[in-house]
Amino acid sequence: MHIRTGAPDDLHRIIKLYKEVAKVKGGIARLEQEITEEYVQNFLSKSLASGLILVAIHPDDPDSLIGEMHAYKPGLHVFNHLFSDLTIAVHPDFQGRKVGRTLFTIFLEEVARHHTDIGKVELITREGNHRAIAFYQSLGFKIEGRMEMRIKTPEGIYEADIPMGWQNPNFEF
Ligand SMILES: CC(C)(COP(=O)(O)OP(=O)(O)OC[C@H]1O[C@@H](n2cnc3c(N)ncnc32)[C@H](O)[C@@H]1OP(=O)(O)O)[C@@H](O)C(=O)NCCC(=O)NCCS
Repeated sequence: MHIRTGAPDDLHRIIKLYKEVAKVKGGIARLEQEITEEYVQNFLSKSLASGLILVAIHPDDPDSLIGEMHAYKPGLHVFNHLFSDLTIAVHPDFQGRKVGRTLFTIFLEEVARHHTDIGKVELITREGNHRAIAFYQSLGFKIEGRMEMRIKTPEGIYEADIPMGWQNPNFEF
């Protein structure tokens, strides 16, 4: 599996990937029409400027992506020790084939090795996404609370969002 850091010219590859991922209900918290160039450009720019972004390349097509993961500093001085707004998306045809686990493993190793100013990586996941929660726990993320009624599913059901955090063992206070 070929994984590299993201680059400014990945913009349209990421848009294409996210649109495919958003077609499947119960995955990322965005509808397909909410995957706009503005949305992707915003997180791509922030991840390149103050965070970390990884992309997984299609095995047969170097111009297409099968996975992407990013997080970045929220922007305020008091949050400068955090990587937040973490999002991971794996192409539906490649889910369950270790792309996500590989992206996360490399991401957290990279933070531990080269981002010792980062004390914590944060993410938020829907309570009903039990597989995702178990996956993040297996990587060392801990549940940090419960945000009641934060998500409204396409079926009109309200669900809690679960904030989770991973602490950098090499954080330099
Ligand atoms: C969740 C996701 C990132 C996992 O990546 P993946 O490449 O499919 O998963 P992997 O093959 O690396 O397996 C990692 C774990 O993810 C879980 N997983 C696999 N497919 C999944 C899916 N479609 N949805 C949720 N979790 C899934 C498995 O339990 C697996 O655990 P295991 O390693 O103990 O078997 C990916 O399936 C995805 O992008 N799903 C849609 C978007 C989404 O749910 N994003 C997360 C929102 S918080």
